[in-house]
Amino acid sequence: MTAGSTAPPERTLILAPLGRDALVAKQILDDAAIGCEICPDLGRLMRELVRGADSAVVTEEACRTEEIGELAAWVASQPAWSDFPFIVLTEHGGGLERNPAAARLTAILGNVSFLERPFHPTTLVSMVHTALRGRRRQTECRRLNEELELRVEERTAELAAANRQLLSQIEERERVESTLRQMQRLEAVGQLTSGVAHDFNNLLTVVLGNIGFLERGLAEHGIDGRLRQRLGYMRVAAERGAKLTDQLLSFSRRQRLEPRSLDLNVAVAGMRDLLQSTMGGSIRIQTRLSADLWLAMVDPTQLELAILNLAINARDAMDVGGTLVVDTDNVTLRAPIQPEDPPAGEYVAICVSDTGQGMSEDVRARVFEPFFTTKEVGKGSGLGLSQVLGFAKQSGGGVRIDSTPGRGTAVHIFLPRAEASVPSPAAKPATRNGEHPSRGTTVLLVDDDNAVREVTRAMLHDLGYLVLEAGSGGAALDLLDRTPRLDLMIVDFAMPGMNGGEVARLARMRRTNLPVLFITGFAERATIEGIDEPQILRKPFMEDELGERVRAALSGVGPAATPLRH
Ligand SMILES: Nc1ncnc2c1ncn2[C@@H]1O[C@H](COP(=O)(O)OP(=O)(O)OP(=O)(O)O)[C@@H](O)[C@H]1O
Ligand SMILES: [Mg+2]
Repeated sequence: MTAGSTAPPERTLILAPLGRDALVAKQILDDAAIGCEICPDLGRLMRELVRGADSAVVTEEACRTEEIGELAAWVASQPAWSDFPFIVLTEHGGGLERNPAAARLTAILGNVSFLERPFHPTTLVSMVHTALRGRRRQTECRRLNEELELRVEERTAELAAANRQLLSQIEERERVESTLRQMQRLEAVGQLTSGVAHDFNNLLTVVLGNIGFLERGLAEHGIDGRLRQRLGYMRVAAERGAKLTDQLLSFSRRQRLEPRSLDLNVAVAGMRDLLQSTMGGSIRIQTRLSADLWLAMVDPTQLELAILNLAINARDAMDVGGTLVVDTDNVTLRAPIQPEDPPAGEYVAICVSDTGQGMSEDVRARVFEPFFTTKEVGKGSGLGLSQVLGFAKQSGGGVRIDSTPGRGTAVHIFLPRAEASVPSPAAKPATRNGEHPSRGTTVLLVDDDNAVREVTRAMLHDLGYLVLEAGSGGAALDLLDRTPRLDLMIVDFAMPGMNGGEVARLARMRRTNLPVLFITGFAERATIEGIDEPQILRKPFMEDELGERVRAALSGVGPAATPLRH
């Protein structure tokens, strides 16, 4: 095999300093077209070897100098692929078997062939050819080896890149799965809590309603003092229960929101006094309100509650002299990373930050769980951040928490940007409080829960209405068919079989103008979606509230004027 076009021509070095040996050898190799060069001494041979050669013809006597050590070192330091071929011209009669010097040279030079002088030219030429051929094999092996190494390197790099990609895909999948798990967990807890909250609202309607009756009864009998006081405690406890239930519903995202386009800067400015009194005198409050803030689409009451929750958390996390900062900003967010993040898009952000104790990783991971609290018994119920998250998510936004232990916490609420200026709903018309119903005004009350129905009936009776009761949709429609005069229907939304919406629709088919008032424990957000707010009375309700709604409905301000949508 010949060397490639870019490879230098093959070179054989000749070292034969005595007599005409060098010239003779060169002549012979020239005649055989073998490229060769004479080196006058061992030093020169060494330099040429370093420059690059393919074989060397040396006389035995030329190797008998002190410098042979250097040559030995060069031979020993050859790279793994190289085994440089030497042809040693020995003295006449100096065959290897009888020549100890030759044995020594074999040890020094390694790849050696001996040629006894005088030699036939053909023998020298064939030996040099053999040496060059062997050398070519060596260089070819080297090339293949290097190519192989290069390919292995490339392949290793490719594998490493593929591996890195795989690892990042695995990481991404794990992240998505854990986000999904977390969301499913929150969703499951949400469903559970909304069920519990719904039942609690029924219970609380009964408890609060009856407390009201008892209070009035005691007053009528002139009984005051301890009994009244005890009833007062019961009322406070039941009202606190109602507040908790409300928070549960907001966590489970099943509360009824009334979003409107709102300038968060105005909302924050309006809360300053409330914040100041909540935080107490030892904490500084700063607001940083962004100019040109977009309008947000949000329920103002729930937002206020969320900010208050965050401010109370901040206060609890700070020592005397801390600072609370409320700031607002327009933000454009990318795809979510955490389950609490909102979807990608444009948001108006409101951030409440403190210089408090911050949260550990463990606490941070659990703060949105309902009932998770690190506060002592009686101080925290663990529903604050659950409310904030539920409200933000239900509003179409999300929440993000940045917290450093020992440094402080910042909670960002992201609220969807309002598309255009949506007019806020007109103020509710004033209700005619305290008016008595005209004689014989009849209300059909439909509720499957006997206790709730009983207490509602008693309230309506107290308010001066005639009340017809039905424990199911079917019974209500039956009554409707049999009763000529009916002025209003009050119907519970969540009932087994026919729900309140269906009962109302079928009732309207019988009496087009029948006003309807829905009472609800809020678990049925999806079905109740199409009904306007004035037509809904939330449990637990008090007699005053019930009276107000009924009067509005009867006077045509509320339900009767609002067609039932489907
Ligand atoms: N700003 C904050 N700094 C440090 N820790 C906080 C902060 N906000 C919340 N936390 C931690 O998160 C937990 C849960 O907060 P969350 O508001 O949900 O409930 P809570 O404050 O304990 O009770 P609740 O708000 O129902 O009265 C807190 O107990 C506290 O450990
Ligand atoms: Mg809290």
